[in-house]
Formats: sequence, C-alpha cells, structure tokens
Amino acid sequence: MQRTLGTCYYPEHWPEDIWQQDAARMVAAGLTWVRIGEFSWSRIEPTPGDLQWDWLDRAIDTLVSAGLKVVLGTPTATPPRWMVDRHPDMFALDQDGKPRGFGSRRHYCFSHQGYRKEARRIVTLMAERYGPGDRIAAWQTDNEYGCHDTTVSYSDAARAAFVRWLETRYGGDIGALNAAWGNVFWSMDYNRFEQIGLPNLTVTEPNPAHVQAFRRFSSDQVVSFNRDQVEILRAHSDAPIAHNYMGRVTDFDHYKVGEDLEIASWDSYPLGFLEDRVGASPEKQRRYARQGDPDFQAFHHDLYRAVGRGRWWVMEQQPGPVNWAPYNPAPLPGMVRFWTWEAFAHGAEAVCYFRWRQAPFAQEQLHAGMLRPDSAEAPAIVEARQVAEELANAGDVAPSQAPVALVFDYDAEWAWQVQPHGQGLTYFDLVLEHYRALRRAGLSVDIVAPTQSDFSGYALILAPGLMHLTDSLRKALAKAEGQVLYGPRTGARDADFKIPTSPLPPALDGLEVVVAAVESIRPDMPLPLANVDGAVTGYLETLETAAEVLVEIAAGQPVAVAAANQVYCAGWLDGDGLDHLVATLCARAGLGICKMPEGVRRRQTATEEFWFNHLAEPVDTEVGTLPPAGVFRRLRKS
Ligand code: GAL
Repeated sequence: MQRTLGTCYYPEHWPEDIWQQDAARMVAAGLTWVRIGEFSWSRIEPTPGDLQWDWLDRAIDTLVSAGLKVVLGTPTATPPRWMVDRHPDMFALDQDGKPRGFGSRRHYCFSHQGYRKEARRIVTLMAERYGPGDRIAAWQTDNEYGCHDTTVSYSDAARAAFVRWLETRYGGDIGALNAAWGNVFWSMDYNRFEQIGLPNLTVTEPNPAHVQAFRRFSSDQVVSFNRDQVEILRAHSDAPIAHNYMGRVTDFDHYKVGEDLEIASWDSYPLGFLEDRVGASPEKQRRYARQGDPDFQAFHHDLYRAVGRGRWWVMEQQPGPVNWAPYNPAPLPGMVRFWTWEAFAHGAEAVCYFRWRQAPFAQEQLHAGMLRPDSAEAPAIVEARQVAEELANAGDVAPSQAPVALVFDYDAEWAWQVQPHGQGLTYFDLVLEHYRALRRAGLSVDIVAPTQSDFSGYALILAPGLMHLTDSLRKALAKAEGQVLYGPRTGARDADFKIPTSPLPPALDGLEVVVAAVESIRPDMPLPLANVDGAVTGYLETLETAAEVLVEIAAGQPVAVAAANQVYCAGWLDGDGLDHLVATLCARAGLGICKMPEGVRRRQTATEEFWFNHLAEPVDTEVGTLPPAGVFRRLRKS
C-alpha cells in the first residue's frame, strides 16, 4: 500500500467560489485525501426533513474532479439545534447529574434511543446518496468517540439500558448479581434488576463491582452506536470505513469498535498532548515544548495499528499551534514533516493534516491550518509538500512483526481507575512507562489486544497490570516461547471485581509465586533497588516464592522473580528500574538492545530503519549526527 497524505476540509465554512482553487492547491501540495462532512449536519438538514444535499454534491464533485479522494464523515457528532427540541433529554448527564448541553459538540448520550434512531436516519440518507458508485473513497463514522469525556453518561436512558445489560450478563438471576458483586457487604442486595441505579450520587464510594460493570456497559454502548452506522454504510457502499480515535481516550474498548471497521485512524496533536495529557514534569514540558513527547505519539501509532488489525492512518495531524492546551506553542521548524515520517515509520497508510485553512470564526480561531485564514501558506503546507516529494521515492507500507509485544487492555485501565489503591496510579501510565523503557533500549514494539491468542515470533512479551487476566490470555501467554513479564496486580480481581480467594496470582505456567500482601507507596518514599540504580514507586506486592530473584529492593524483598520464561514483577518500577528490568529480560530472551541517547528513538521494520531526534538540539548517534527534528531513514538488508 502506497503512503499518502491528506487534509481535513470544511467546504461549508468557505464561499463556494474558492472550492475549486482549494482543491487544486491540495493536489499541487501532493495531497491525495480530503476528509469532509463530519460536522455538517445543520447544513445538510437545516430544519427537520429539509434535506439540502446540493452543496455537498457540488463540493464532492469539485474535490473528486480535481483528483482528490474523499473521506466522508457521518455528521452524528454534531446534532443540530432542532434535534434538541425534538429530544430534550438526548444529552449525556455528568456524574453530578447535570446535562451536557448544546453549544459545542458531542452533545448526545450513546444510550438515548431517540437520538440513536436519528443517527441511523441521517446515516442511511447519506449512505443511500453517496454509497453507490465511487465518489466516496472511504467513510469516517462520527468524530472522536469519547472525546471531551463523553463515553460515560448518567442519564435515565443509560440507566434503562444498563439494567437490561446486567440482566443479560447475569442471566436474569438477581441473586447471581448480588453474589458476584458482594452486595451483602453494606446491605446493598437488590430484589430486582429494575432497582439497580447508576453508580453516581452515592453517599460514599459505590461498590467497585458496580462501577466496573457500568464502565464495561458504557463501552459496549459506543461499540453498538458505531455498529449501527457500519451496518448501514456497508449496505450501500464498498468503500472502507474508519473512525478517528483520540489520544489517551480510553473509556471505551477501541479494539471492539475496531473489529467492525476496516481502518483505525487517530488524531495526533503532539504539542497539545504534552501540555494537556502526557503528565510530564514542567522541566520535560519545557524541553519538548515544540517537539512533543518522544513516546506518546509512537505509543498511539502502535496501539492503533493493533486496533486497525494492521491498517491505520493519522486522520488529523497537528499542523502548527493548537488552541486547546494550557499553552500552545508553535512546532519547531521541521516537526510537521518529522511527525508525518514518524507515523509512516510505524506503518501508517496515510497522514492527513488538520485542517486545510485556519477558521476565522468560532471555537478554533487560534488553531493553525495548512493555510492562514487569508489563504496564504502557513508553515505546515511547506513541510507537507516536502514529505510528498520524499514519498515519491519512499516505497510502500510494509507490515512486519516487531520482536516485542506489549499487551494493552482497556478493561484493566477501567479497573485501575475504579480502584487505583494509590493516588495518581493509572494503568495507562504503567503501560506507557514500560513502552518508554523498551524504546529507550532501541526496541520496536507491537501493542497487542488481550484477546491475542498467538504470541509466536515474539522474543519478549510484556503484560503489566492486567487486573483481570482472562483464561484465554493466561493460556496464550503460557504457550508463548518468548520471555513473558506479568505483574504487578496480575489477576488480582476476577471477572466481577472480587479478589479471588485462591492464592494470587492465578497459576502462571511454571512460576510459583503468591502475592501475600499489597501496599501503595507515596511518590516521595521510593524504595531503592539493591545493587542497581532504580526504585520501586507507587505500588508493591509482597511475594511468597522460591523462584529465582531477578530484582529486589535494598531492604531485601524480592521485586521481580523468574522461572524458565515466566517473570513476575511485583512493583511499579521507576525509569531506571524499568531500564534494568528490560535489559535483564532482553538478555534472557537473547534480544540485542541499543541504548538510545536522550530524545532519540529508533523504529525498525522488516525493510526499513528510522531514527528520530526529538530534541531541539543536534544529537550524535550511531547513524550520524541528527539535527533538531532530524529524521534518518535507511533500508534494511533482508
Ligand atoms: C480534534 C477534533 C477536530 C478538532 C481538532 C483540534 O480533537 O477531531 O475536530 O477539534 O481536535 O485540534
């Protein structure tokens, strides 16, 4: 598959007489794709039933005639104002029971049956009109499910659907639910499913089993909302269907949504993320302010490659300053090109820049585009053009398996949120910190779903923090030939959020280890490791084991233990500790490592090798001196 570029365009924002010129400029810049339509409902249907397709027909014709391929977004992320008059209770409710109302976007509850019907109606009309023929080259469903904290809703509609979901899960047996959740604890037993409310507005914390069930239900509502649209689009069109996911939005199971789609895509805003959701120290924020975190984008590239089962895009790439982070610096010159190549190095088929022209009105006035509001070129278009020229000789996307697999499990993310045991401890951070350590060792990583059944070909498999370890994953990992890392908290809860009363963790193949006690640790009380740099922070389990000790704390308690290819790590290690653990695991796996200079990362596929310098200064590496925003690429000999 050829690597291609594109942009996000809003014909409804601009006078019709500049569409043609815009399209010609896109083609001249080397762009292939143009995504349109995802926020256009109020112009498609200004009043109920009054369908105005003409402008969209002409916009599509203009873009297609210029030689562009159109990705058409379904407009369901932005229901028009009249929809609210029809369905006044369609909003999601926040945890305090307050409606999240009209005036921005994503103002709907995934469980509201009236809105679900409206969404199906507009998608059907769109699919009937544009599905046949080849005007549309790909579809996008909705826009960024879950963004702005919109997966979970405490509405009446959600409650009604949750009750039905629980009835199905527990086979209509309320006694089974009471037993599974331990409702006897504070006399929380229910007599009937209809009595079950949502886990908000309780006096003190709700039952964690109740919350985890609600989180799983809320995720399933996103999956079924998306599936409605996919079924309709498929009935009318052969074009592939994508969704554009967001960075660090983990409230629904992206793998499950992804199973219904041909392509995963995501929206990559490296500078916004660094300020807003990486959780970096102020010093790191300053050091990488114009480049972004060296691992955060790569992590999502690898994650969404898994969600797309190999096929993935960047649907929106940051082109300059964004408007939504606490501070919004401009990227270093060269960074837009750098981010584009980084995505290609991780297997992206396409990278599309958000957006074509900066909007002179409304919420994103301060968000850069490829063009300025006056239509003059902004820096991003110059760098995109450069990439387009480079792509002419760069070959195709070649899928290849990495030597390391890292399991990422959305269910574990919710479980840690429901019961972190220590302030600020998140599963996402735990996994990201393992990923960072692997990357500091120069390793390329495949992120894999917890449903992975075959780990053959992986020299090293990391599965940290899986609070509920399913039987199927336990069996698949037991069969793996590579080194397998578990813990902390592996199998610490059963499927209903109870602590298993058999010794923990559930028998790992050949590794006899029992978690006798658990504690969380203040961040200002790290426990130094014995003999090596590094410490346990945040979380530590006390192990009963006769297995070989690989890592222990200076006070003498084992942290990582091993038998054959199975390794259990009982603590949350800091960066140095993880570097040591990764080096130890690689030595056991016979996997070579290549220590990266600070800010430098390498990505290898079967056919190519890339080096990226994320620093604002030049760095010496074994492939030469990389300038700021430097990208080095070479072909690998097979
Ligand atoms: C994305 C969103 C776009 C735009 C962009 C701004 O999250 O999908 O519509 O708002 O952010 O950075």
